[in-house]
Amino acid sequence: MSDTATGPMTGPMTLRQLLVTLALDFKIFEDPKSEARHLLFDAMDMDLSELLLRGDDQVPPEDFARVQRWKAERLKGIPLAYISGKKGFYKTEFIVRPGVLVPRPETELVVEMALARMNEAKSVADFGCGSGCIGLSLLQELPAAKLVSVDLSAVACEVTLANARNMDLAARTEVMNASVEEFAGDQSRVDEGFHLVVANPPYIAPGDTNVQKSVHDYEPHAALYAADEGLAALRSWTGVAMKVLKPRGVFVTEIGAGQSAAVQEIIREAGFQDIQVSRDLNNIERVISAMKPG
Ligand SMILES: C[S@@+](CC[C@H](N)C(=O)[O-])C[C@H]1O[C@@H](n2cnc3c(N)ncnc32)[C@H](O)[C@@H]1O
Repeated sequence: MSDTATGPMTGPMTLRQLLVTLALDFKIFEDPKSEARHLLFDAMDMDLSELLLRGDDQVPPEDFARVQRWKAERLKGIPLAYISGKKGFYKTEFIVRPGVLVPRPETELVVEMALARMNEAKSVADFGCGSGCIGLSLLQELPAAKLVSVDLSAVACEVTLANARNMDLAARTEVMNASVEEFAGDQSRVDEGFHLVVANPPYIAPGDTNVQKSVHDYEPHAALYAADEGLAALRSWTGVAMKVLKPRGVFVTEIGAGQSAAVQEIIREAGFQDIQVSRDLNNIERVISAMKPG
């Protein structure tokens, strides 16, 4: 009789067997197989091609123990990126830890839109930088650019700096632990002027019942929620972007589902022109960009 028929396997097993038992343990999640794959790949630093090649290899005891520890944490609802300490975004694996938002795939659209509109930007400001994922991904593509990353969370600033060092971009990155509003209160920033301002503000309305429990329980609320139906930061940051951009500079921001019309109105009222909207893979209007008049 096989181990699986008598109860949970605890002894040596192959990678493929471990993946199957993980998926069974993860049946509380919407997509147990994908949860299992992601955890196994992160815990063992491998990818699908390696699994296909080495699927019948025995799992070394230390790897097996790590997978069991991580599984127990994941079953509590802790996001995998906080357990593994990393998350892939655009072209890089970013350091992540509790206290910063886990970078989301749809946010890569902010990077793409910014590059499509301003591929020769020399000065970039990243409002609410979190892990630093948007600004640092841009800096990697813009070799002549300098970046100022702003966040009111000290943890976010530490993580952005760690990522900048990891990516060899620290010499071109300034990290400022302040609110976006304080940043714009410094006249030298306004005089300096930026070609590009990118942002992913908190945009969820407090009390929104669509937010996943693990997101609400574990991710920083300052990164998620904003007053005024989720529009408060978007409104304020649009005004700041208008103030610190150079003439013909471009503002690119992520928005929440269903906010496109309201945000376009805010951006138009602030004086921006040439407003463009991009949809994410779920066909949701997700990113808005606009130009400051020349
Ligand atoms: C949605 S998260 C975005 C993080 C990162 N840019 C990303 O896309 O993964 C918003 C970030 O804005 C920061 N934040 C919220 N209000 C702020 C404010 N008034 N000034 C500066 N940062 C703020 C939060 O600490 C959080 O890191």
